Amino acid sequence: MGKTFVLTNLAASLARAGHRVIAVDADLEGANLHTCLGVPRPPVSLADFVAGREEDLGKLVLDTKLAGLQLIAATHANLGAPQPGQVRRVRLMRALRALDADFVLVDLGAGTHASVLDYFLVADQGVVVVAPEPTSVENAYSFLRAAFYRRLRLAMAGHGVRKLVAEAMDQRNDRGIRTPLDLLREVQTADPVEGARFVRTMQSFQPRLVVNGVRSAEDVRLGFAVRSVCRKYFGIEAEYVGYVNHEESARRSVLAKQPLLEFRGDADAAVYLQRVAHKLCQLAAAGGGP
Ligand SMILES: Nc1ncnc2c1ncn2[C@@H]1O[C@H](COP(=O)(O)OP(=O)(O)OP(=O)(O)O)[C@@H](O)[C@H]1O
Ligand SMILES: [Mg+2]
Repeated sequence: MGKTFVLTNLAASLARAGHRVIAVDADLEGANLHTCLGVPRPPVSLADFVAGREEDLGKLVLDTKLAGLQLIAATHANLGAPQPGQVRRVRLMRALRALDADFVLVDLGAGTHASVLDYFLVADQGVVVVAPEPTSVENAYSFLRAAFYRRLRLAMAGHGVRKLVAEAMDQRNDRGIRTPLDLLREVQTADPVEGARFVRTMQSFQPRLVVNGVRSAEDVRLGFAVRSVCRKYFGIEAEYVGYVNHEESARRSVLAKQPLLEFRGDADAAVYLQRVAHKLCQLAAAGGGP
């Protein structure tokens, strides 16, 4: 819970810090980012690109009430074919990277659809928002597992190794591969060159974690727990970039169709969200630019 809320406010925070930001709604089946940003009835949307009605993604960019913050909405999707096919998806990802902005923030739908995973994987920084509830934590693990295996499969060239990865994706596989670390051992035995590549791919997969809706110190610690699990079972280094407390003003800001930073900039949650934005900025700079 809270992906769209968090993204709205990270975008607002970066814009207020003087960056040129484009927030993109890629949730074609549940578009609502425009509402959180107070943009009524967007005339054009990403659905126009997906349907091939518009080839220039830049023409779908709309202004919001906030200086420096623009939006690509996802309204008017064709529910018969909401997700772009493979070729279109690759074009979209290229076009997203070519947008004229300092930061492009892409709001993804829930679940592990291939398109959702691909947008996550192509990003410089993939952020997973998790709420301190068992269901949300479970969803976060399923998502990370699916993203990890997809990335691996795309990176693995060797035919035999690809087959191993494909087998490992079935959690009940006969080889007894239960975690990416088990898979690593199998790959290293089967093909040392691909094994080394596997390790590099694993190391460069560094998802960011945000815990949203915390109500206690224990909730805050959830981020560290998820990070440990990622290290132990996936062999990956997830970065816990911060938490946001649960508060009524967050919900009210959504009702008011404003980022919380605008609605009540002095709220604790607004302060925490700015902290997360700052941290992501630092990581972007360390990684060679936004
Ligand atoms: N920190 C918070 N404190 C209180 N309420 C919150 C907080 N974060 C989110 N909410 C409430 O939860 C609602 C749902 O959040 P949001 O739409 O961001 O979830 P989502 O993960 O994008 O959902 P979906 O998977 O449907 O896209 C918000 O409209 C808001 O009312
Ligand atoms: Mg959402």
